[in-house]
Amino acid sequence: MKTVLITGCSSGYGLETARHFHAHGWNVVATMRTPREDVLPRSERLRVVTLDVTRPESIAAAIEASGPIDVLVNNAGIGAIGAFESTPIATAREIFETNTFGVMAMTQAVLPQFRERRAGVVVNVTSSVTLARMPLVAVYTASKTAIEGFTASLALELEQFDVRAKLVEPGYGPTTGFTSNGQSRMDGLISAPYAAFAERVMTDFGQPAAVTREADVAEAVWRAATDVTGQLRFPAGPDAVALAQAR
Ligand SMILES: NC(=O)c1ccc[n+]([C@@H]2O[C@H](COP(=O)([O-])OP(=O)(O)OC[C@H]3O[C@@H](n4cnc5c(N)ncnc54)[C@H](OP(=O)(O)O)[C@@H]3O)[C@@H](O)[C@H]2O)c1
Repeated sequence: MKTVLITGCSSGYGLETARHFHAHGWNVVATMRTPREDVLPRSERLRVVTLDVTRPESIAAAIEASGPIDVLVNNAGIGAIGAFESTPIATAREIFETNTFGVMAMTQAVLPQFRERRAGVVVNVTSSVTLARMPLVAVYTASKTAIEGFTASLALELEQFDVRAKLVEPGYGPTTGFTSNGQSRMDGLISAPYAAFAERVMTDFGQPAAVTREADVAEAVWRAATDVTGQLRFPAGPDAVALAQAR
């Protein structure tokens, strides 16, 4: 029986991905900054483990507590909508700490066991912002685009050990906790010169032609984790799939 460790399982795409792997008979290590047992089914195959991907000691403790794992899903992520000019560099660093360095640190923490066993998959969840340009998300896009390049390169050096690295690129998911979790970070990020432009952009954001559901991402992560064709990128959700096809 295979074991998956997923980061950021308290809500949204990560929570649904944990449920999906569990429903497929896997052992699931559902990690959260603040553990909550009540959001997932009670099962011998499902463990909730504390993990903050920005803290090295938290990563070491979670890897130790998890035991051998077959698949790592780097799903935890944070965002902010704002004009780059009015985004403090401290906020940019905060976003990169989770979305970029957190992913790298988690990957480094599992690679020794994957390499030694000559098996394992790292699935990195980025975003459809890497597929088409969007305004007011420059820092977030940079943090996710870094992981696109990172994963593409990493996949090549891990092939020799039969270890795989994959990308899942979800589209816009209005039903996750993403926007509310980023709300406080966004205060003051739309300064006066950008206000009229931001209002137009936010109106467009509010009327999407298609959106991504949690189940779309869980299914794409599942396909990425079990893929043996060598496919690197898995757009998730109808909006992301359309953007990927238009490229
Ligand atoms: N929703 C969208 O529109 C969208 C679109 C494309 C890509 N994505 C990406 O999809 C992934 C999941 O997002 P979501 O939409 O499901 O949002 P979400 O509901 O806010 O889930 C994000 C998860 O990441 C966790 N997290 C944040 N910082 C963390 C840290 N330092 N260490 C460990 N966990 C941390 C959160 O935990 P807490 O509860 O502790 O904050 C939460 O469980 C993210 O990587 C996001 O960038 C989202």
